[in-house]
Amino acid sequence: KKEITIAIDGFSSTGKSTIAKLIAKKYNFIYVDTGAMYRAVALFAMQNRYIGKNFVDANSLISKLKNISLSFQFNKEEGFAEMFLNKVNIEKEIRTLEVSQYVSQIATISEVRRKLVSEQQEMGKLGGIVMDGRDIGTVVFPHADLKLFMTASANKRALRRYEELIKKGDKVSYEEILFNVQERDRIDSTREDSPLIMASDAIEFDNSDMEIKEQFDAICVFINKLI
Ligand code: C5P
Repeated sequence: KKEITIAIDGFSSTGKSTIAKLIAKKYNFIYVDTGAMYRAVALFAMQNRYIGKNFVDANSLISKLKNISLSFQFNKEEGFAEMFLNKVNIEKEIRTLEVSQYVSQIATISEVRRKLVSEQQEMGKLGGIVMDGRDIGTVVFPHADLKLFMTASANKRALRRYEELIKKGDKVSYEEILFNVQERDRIDSTREDSPLIMASDAIEFDNSDMEIKEQFDAICVFINKLI
């Protein structure tokens, strides 16, 4: 089997991680959720009060980046790798709406991106990897063997994210989730450093009305040709 590199990019809540996990499982590839890494840095910034309502202290965060150590540890029961920040499992904390409300601002900071991109490139050095995010096909792995770009209507995406959070017991409203999804997309697409755009050689999947299974089958046809 060839150890290929697969890049999955797209707007928030378009099912990128669901597809990535299915691919990783079927082909025995490593799955890296780069959004979790940006979320971890956002959580670090929140914990140290470098970001909050109406303030961002980017310079202090930048000066403390060397104190941030990120790692993934595979959880056998869950079947995926959980995010650790300085050896502490933060998988649950980074999935809250509050982190979602700060993460895109943190992700505009070039020094943050530089650190995470280099760690991601290191993880992908040997191939056999599927990575999802916003800049994987454009910046992290511009020579990826396969690039996918996922889209879906904002309403569908907000509804999925809303159901996910409600199921976990979070008290959120559909309206605030919809606002967050659209706001993150706006910041992610318009930032100066590595904005979210579709790589010219990516294959686009709109899953507004498509079942994940159907889409996964279509993607496997591409992968089977490559390995
Ligand atoms: O994928 P997820 O929704 O968890 O990503 C959270 C945020 O992290 C995104 O909205 C974006 O601001 C940032 N991000 C990024 N580049 C990546 C992955 C995520 O800027 N490769």
